Amino acid sequence: MILQKTEKINRNRLNNIPNFNEQTKEIILKYLSIENEYGYALREMSAKLENLDDYCQNHFDHNPIHHIESRIKSPESIIEKMIRRGYDLTFESLRKNIYDIAGIRVICKYIRDIYQIIDLLISQKDLKVLLRKDYIANPKETGYRSLHLVLSIELYIGNEVKTVPVEIQFRTLAMDMWASLEHELRYKSKNNLPLSDQEALKQYSEDLYHVDTEMEKIYVSTTKGVKYNGI
Ligand code: GTP
Ligand code: MG
Repeated sequence: MILQKTEKINRNRLNNIPNFNEQTKEIILKYLSIENEYGYALREMSAKLENLDDYCQNHFDHNPIHHIESRIKSPESIIEKMIRRGYDLTFESLRKNIYDIAGIRVICKYIRDIYQIIDLLISQKDLKVLLRKDYIANPKETGYRSLHLVLSIELYIGNEVKTVPVEIQFRTLAMDMWASLEHELRYKSKNNLPLSDQEALKQYSEDLYHVDTEMEKIYVSTTKGVKYNGI
């Protein structure tokens, strides 16, 4: 199942972008002319993930992926990130530095599903790993857990081959529940959660991780722990 959230900008909304000026307008207009490349990358990468899920169902009687969400980053967020990170405000710098324009979130059932799906995915020759951040093995200070991959995918755009980066966040259902609610709480508190709440949230992330690993043990003992990446 693919849930797609598109944040496509209406060209008339350009004037409402914070920090909107001639320089940002030029970048955004150039970006809008190639935005479709990120859409194609999202579609092809999502198809690969769905196919892998299907393959696992056919061969191992298990669907590792619970669901997939995807989105294209809005021009507003792209400009905001470039300013926040202090990148040059040029189209070339956008192409080079912003690798999460095409973003996919893959919500898996068990932690082992995440590592096994990733092994299968990155063995595909039209993909290259640009970045891997394992916040499951090394959670963030907040308690955030997920595994982030940035992959480049080779695409035919018309008759040209291009490589386009896609960011994929892999997490379990429990990690997704935590991240969604924590994100909303942080937003509602305007990034000003009391320390005691921050500590409580970190503890709940630990508690959910414990539930994840214990439920996985039951799954492994029930299914004799089938591994579908051949390792
Ligand atoms: P961005 O500039 O936000 O894209 O950060 P980054 O490129 O340094 O990447 P990072 O590895 O920090 O991951 C960024 C993304 O991970 C965010 O957009 C969130 O979706 C998610 N994320 C990272 N940390 C947290 C956290 O503490 N809580 C929640 N809820 N989500 C987080
Ligand atoms: Mg990001």
